[in-house]
Formats: sequence, C-alpha cells, structure tokens
Amino acid sequence: MRVTWLGHAAFEVEIDGVNVLIDPFLSGNPKAAKSPDEVDPDLVLVTHGHGDHLGDAVEICKRTGATLVGIYEIAMYAKGQGVENVEEMNIGGTIEVEGLRIIQVPAWHSSEIVEDGEIVAGGTPVGYVVSGEEGSVYHAGDTGLSMDMKLIGELYEPEVALLPIGSRFTMGPKEAAKAVELIEPEVVIPMHYGTFPPIDQDPEEFEREVKELGLDVEVVILEPGESYER
Ligand code: NI
Ligand code: MN
Repeated sequence: MRVTWLGHAAFEVEIDGVNVLIDPFLSGNPKAAKSPDEVDPDLVLVTHGHGDHLGDAVEICKRTGATLVGIYEIAMYAKGQGVENVEEMNIGGTIEVEGLRIIQVPAWHSSEIVEDGEIVAGGTPVGYVVSGEEGSVYHAGDTGLSMDMKLIGELYEPEVALLPIGSRFTMGPKEAAKAVELIEPEVVIPMHYGTFPPIDQDPEEFEREVKELGLDVEVVILEPGESYER
C-alpha cells in the first residue's frame, strides 16, 4: 500500500494495485506535487464541494475515464458536468468498486459548490475509509473533531489516518491529536496545512500534541510529493 501526499488534502492511495485519488485540488494549489495531467487514477473520491477538494476532479475523470465517488449531490453535479462514471452514495454506506471497499463517513464542515455567487450543488461533507487486502486508509476530509471518529476507529479499524491540522477551517493540532486518540490508527499523516497563510501550521506541534497524549501511533510528516509505504 502506498500513500502519496500531493499537497493540501490531495492524496494518491494505491491499494491492491488500484490507484485512488482523493480531493484532487491540483491546479491553483501552490503546493501541488502534480498537475492534473500527471495523474491517472482508477477512482476519484471527493469529500465535499469546496474548490480546494473538488478541485480538478471533473476534468480528471473526463480525461481518464476514472469513476468519481461522492455524496449524491456531488456525484449528480459531476454527472451534469459530463463525468460518465459516477458512484453516488451517502453517509454510513459502503460500496465495492474495483475490488476495494469504500465507506462514506461523517465530517463536520460545510459543502456547497458556489459558482458566480449561486449555490449550484450541496450535500454534506464526508470522509472516507478505503480498504483492500493490503490495508485501509481513513481520509477525514475537512472536519472538526467529533465523537464519530471513535465509531470509525472501532468499526473500520483504519491503519492509516489522514487528518487536517490547519485550524481555521478544520481541526488544529490539538483537536487532531485528540482525534488520533479516538481513531487509534497505527499511522497518522497530517494534511490541510501550509497551503495558504491562513492555515499555516507546524506539523511538529501536532506531533508534540500526540506525544503528550501518550498515544501508540507513528506520526508521519510528508512533504508534498512524498510517499509513505507499508
Ligand atoms: Ni472545505
Ligand atoms: Mn478545505
């Protein structure tokens, strides 16, 4: 299993030979490790409609034929934009695509797609647990801390958790450390920080907060473009 951070909340997750691209905000992302033309996913998972998450998902799916997975409203929006293969779902549901199990889980945030001052699509924000033979990954999306994370940990036992630490729009280091305590993953990778000045954050501070809680977890701090393999 390989997890590559593309900057912000964008990740390439390879499990069982399937390339899963999550929240591909690449064009317009000052920290993007790849351009939209450099990715070749089988699946594209979108956590919510904000531009820094939906990103280039529609264009990438149209170019590559990848399947877009999203909450119903986002999936229908993508279909309306010309994406051929979509898998719509909703919170609490599980689907099997390309041999992987994809579970949509709650996130505490907002989700509307706003174009020219008009809301054109909504739904609620989500996170995902993606699992296969080689392992499982929880991408929390944009979220505040919630007790739901305890259930996500208990039910789906993700080995790797990708958690936002940037604060302002999501959890900060302190809340994210508490999330680690609830989820109990083996590895945690911080994300959604350092992209723009409003979410500048020191990942070492997150690591210190995790250590202070005495948690048995490996904190893996990546640079955009770097991978974690297990
Ligand atoms: Ni957002
Ligand atoms: Mn965001």
